[in-house]
Amino acid sequence: MVTQRAGVVYLDGRFVDRASAAVSVDDRGFLFGDGVYEVTRALDGRLFESERHVRRLARGLRELALTLPLDVDARALGEISLRLLRENQLTRGSATVYLQVTRGAAPRTHHFPPADTRATVYVSASPLPVPDAVRERGASAILVDDLRWQRCDIKTIQLLPNVLAKQRAAEGGVYEAVMVRDGIITEGSSTNVFVVVDDVLCTHPATHRILPGVTRDVVLELARAARLRVAEREVRVEELRVASELFITSTTNDVMPVVLVDGERLGSGAPGPIARRLHEMLVSRMRAQCAHVTEMAR
Ligand code: PDD
Repeated sequence: MVTQRAGVVYLDGRFVDRASAAVSVDDRGFLFGDGVYEVTRALDGRLFESERHVRRLARGLRELALTLPLDVDARALGEISLRLLRENQLTRGSATVYLQVTRGAAPRTHHFPPADTRATVYVSASPLPVPDAVRERGASAILVDDLRWQRCDIKTIQLLPNVLAKQRAAEGGVYEAVMVRDGIITEGSSTNVFVVVDDVLCTHPATHRILPGVTRDVVLELARAARLRVAEREVRVEELRVASELFITSTTNDVMPVVLVDGERLGSGAPGPIARRLHEMLVSRMRAQCAHVTEMAR
């Protein structure tokens, strides 16, 4: 039997018990994957980089011509998230807030439903087990074909190619599936990818081919501040042979070094100094941003 997780979630204007929260079978998220989502990191009950997440959400909604209900603006979403962290006793340590917006419930038509269809808004908060043990020894990955559509820059809930890629990783006993399109490393199934080649930190440019990760953005900023050499450029699979480091980034992984790709050692086979340094910088920034005012004043 699957155990039902306890807790309070937000659905369409109400805070309800997770067990009793239900979405219509006519919901376009269910029928078409017609929606977008965000996963935001929380530390000690505060949201990390929430403005960047709100900006990405707003852009995704705009690109899909999807409108939030009038009473659910960015400020309301922030308040809902904080309340869920409190009500689910997640005000200490790491957590994530999941937010999903779909085009609402309406009789099934491929084209958009009537303009007055109210978007479905769902928000929940969960504890995050930070994968520090994996980080210590370094993760493993496999390379898979990138089977996705042409707008990977929009964080839609349609994640089937990502699901299939991650399942292959899981079945192979590895941590992440790194996707390759036309010989070029795009990103992980739920992470962005950085590769250090000739002492330059390289990552795929923020085009339609990848999700512009919030962590990617922050890591690039930190790397530039640390005066590392950085290039947003396409990295070919062959370059992995001469790469000294590879790491993945995401809201749930922070900076995660990868030391084994398709069973082959990458670089020294141990977590590298650049990944380590950027991870420390990221965690410092998170602590500073999420510190309680009283603690900061101490
Ligand atoms: N995944 N690329 C893809 C395809 C992703 O799904 C994610 C995030 C990222 C990293 O983005 P960010 O740094 O903003 O988390 C890159 C989230 C965490 C998820 O689907 O659970």
